[in-house]
Amino acid sequence: AAEKPSVDIVGDWQHRYCSLADTFQPVLDRVHNFEVREDDVWIVTSTKCGTTWTQEMTWLILNNFDFEKAKTDDLTIRSPFLEFNGVVPNVPHDTIEALNKLPSPRLIKSHLPAWLLPKQVWTKKPKIIYVFRNPKDAAISYFHHWRGMVGYKGTKEDFMHSYIDGHVNFNPFWPHVLDFWQLRDEPQIFFTSYERMKRDLGGVIKDVCKFLEREVEPEQLTQLVDHLSFDKMKDNPACNHVKEFESMKAAAGREVEEFSRFVRRGIVGSHKDEMPQTAIQEFDDWTEDNLKDYQLTMDDFINYS
Ligand code: A3P
Repeated sequence: AAEKPSVDIVGDWQHRYCSLADTFQPVLDRVHNFEVREDDVWIVTSTKCGTTWTQEMTWLILNNFDFEKAKTDDLTIRSPFLEFNGVVPNVPHDTIEALNKLPSPRLIKSHLPAWLLPKQVWTKKPKIIYVFRNPKDAAISYFHHWRGMVGYKGTKEDFMHSYIDGHVNFNPFWPHVLDFWQLRDEPQIFFTSYERMKRDLGGVIKDVCKFLEREVEPEQLTQLVDHLSFDKMKDNPACNHVKEFESMKAAAGREVEEFSRFVRRGIVGSHKDEMPQTAIQEFDDWTEDNLKDYQLTMDDFINYS
């Protein structure tokens, strides 16, 4: 059962819903009762919004820019994915147990909507970084993820409808975003966007340092921007999820497909040449429908800083 946090949330906290595959469901009770620490740092996102990129950035900020350790220890170990418990075949991984053993400050990834996060998140108030991305680009990215990693056989059009209807893991998208948007001025929350990270990664790093009360020297900033560049991350096996991707593909006996890397294109606007025109119109209408009661447009999220 979901509990209302001690902060105001848009809508009715008790009547939210979230699509989750069977594989995630056995872990929900443990997630609900997960022991949160005040000095945890959480990266919470809807899927394919730049989670991995933000995790790598934040881990380095929290760990005194230890680039050596970042290159040798896999990001999934440095920053476990809370609810991803035993989901990847051949990689048995009790993420909750791993998190219980991780020294502070822990960096925790979750795709759960606000109301499904552990109840102590709203009483112990650890810091949360929330990353928005244009859902048209996130949906295209998720389509490739589902084809490559999950073995989805449907068409792009089918997938886009499922996305809009909220029938893919962790959706519906807009309530996920709007709950955190409403919380953006809380001292506990840092709200940013993938588009802002593409526009001004240095500025985001400096703001995250302020949010986390960490110092960054100019050389460290330069080094971190370079380390986080698309080309470097694409070829960095410690954070490009290549092992999980390969293991899921091998388990399903699938061939490698074009664009089926996890760190894939890394651009703003991939929907423009990848999304069917009818789906673009459907996404725009759906966005307008979801935002009109709040007098918001997509640009409010994309340009927020
Ligand atoms: P694309 O599929 O559009 O390329 P997540 O980590 O939330 O699953 O997000 C994955 C998306 O972030 C992918 O988007 C991936 O390429 C992109 N990404 C990962 N690292 C990046 C980087 N260093 N720069 C830009 N985009 C990056």
